[in-house]
Amino acid sequence: MISNTNNEFPEHVKIVEVGPRDGLQNEKQHISAEDKVTLINLLTDAGINYIESGSFVSPKWVPQMATSSDVFNAITRKEGVTYAALTPNMKGFEAAMAVNANEVAIFGAASEAFSQKNINCSIAESLERFEPIMTAAKQANVPVRGYVSCVVGCPYEGEIEPEQVALVAEKLYKMGCYEISLGDTVGVGTPLSVQKMLQAVSARVPKAKLAVHFHDTYGQALTNIYTALQNGISVIDSAIAGSGGCPYAKGASGNVATEDVVYLLNGLKIKTDIDLDKLVKAGWFISDKLGKTPSSKVSNAYRAQA
Ligand code: HMG
Ligand code: MG
Repeated sequence: MISNTNNEFPEHVKIVEVGPRDGLQNEKQHISAEDKVTLINLLTDAGINYIESGSFVSPKWVPQMATSSDVFNAITRKEGVTYAALTPNMKGFEAAMAVNANEVAIFGAASEAFSQKNINCSIAESLERFEPIMTAAKQANVPVRGYVSCVVGCPYEGEIEPEQVALVAEKLYKMGCYEISLGDTVGVGTPLSVQKMLQAVSARVPKAKLAVHFHDTYGQALTNIYTALQNGISVIDSAIAGSGGCPYAKGASGNVATEDVVYLLNGLKIKTDIDLDKLVKAGWFISDKLGKTPSSKVSNAYRAQA
């Protein structure tokens, strides 16, 4: 039986909105810095208080993120909101600091092949590259989030062993990441594989330090989130309008839609402090710019009823 009075679920969930970064990084259609800024401001107005607003990576690798500095410089900063950026190396970290990103995220993988395709180095090399970022971030008092990609499957290697995920997550945690986001990059997970992975990781990293990051390629993301909630996870990554995907995970579709996650959490009486009506409007704003219909079922249902 579902109940939110017997501690089966967390009372409050933190949403990490990754739409302006993960949602847009793979889009062919160029989105101007101005439109990204409008999206970010609409999201904060809807009550989102953590927004991954861009990434400082090679513009040759991910052209859509080339305007991240312009975006960070033009955001209307709201008190209490964290504007975060992805930084793969010191060059990226310095660029993020130059535009006052509140937090940065380093991103590794549980799959060797994905690590090579995504950041052009092995898992061990990536951890070495992250070390100076951790040192510089500590000096600058900037919190660092850590991603592990391919936590249940890899587009190049197939199934990934839960223990391999746990080992990489533990390394990032021990390096000083305050939170580890577990990415089902290709969206192949189902409740059973997700549960096994979470059990392995939480044997090495406290549950309170874990987040889940689901892509919805096979339509399993909400079910997997429900599983994660039952397993004591209370930080969920999602992208407005269900946008996105990783350019180095071919065939992978967008992240789970923030609108759908908030609808689920509202139904479970889990607090988020997010205004769903405003969120849906933000989703339609960016979808119109992309010339697409939101992948979010909730967004479509709201529009149909309007
Ligand atoms: P590399 O070619 O090995 O790097 O790429 P390099 O150090 O040899 O430098 C090559 C060129 O890139 C040089 O420029 C550098 O200046 C430049 P050139 O001399 O040729 O003109 N460069 C940079 N430019 C801007 N910002 C930087 C930077 N670093 C080097 N920070 C590198 C290594 C990591 C840079 C490259 O592989 C890269 O940019 N990869 C980005 C991949 C990416 O962004 N993927 C998507 C995000 S991850 C994701 O989506 C998964 C996630 O959502 C979780 C999940 O779903 O699982 C997080
Ligand atoms: Mg992702």
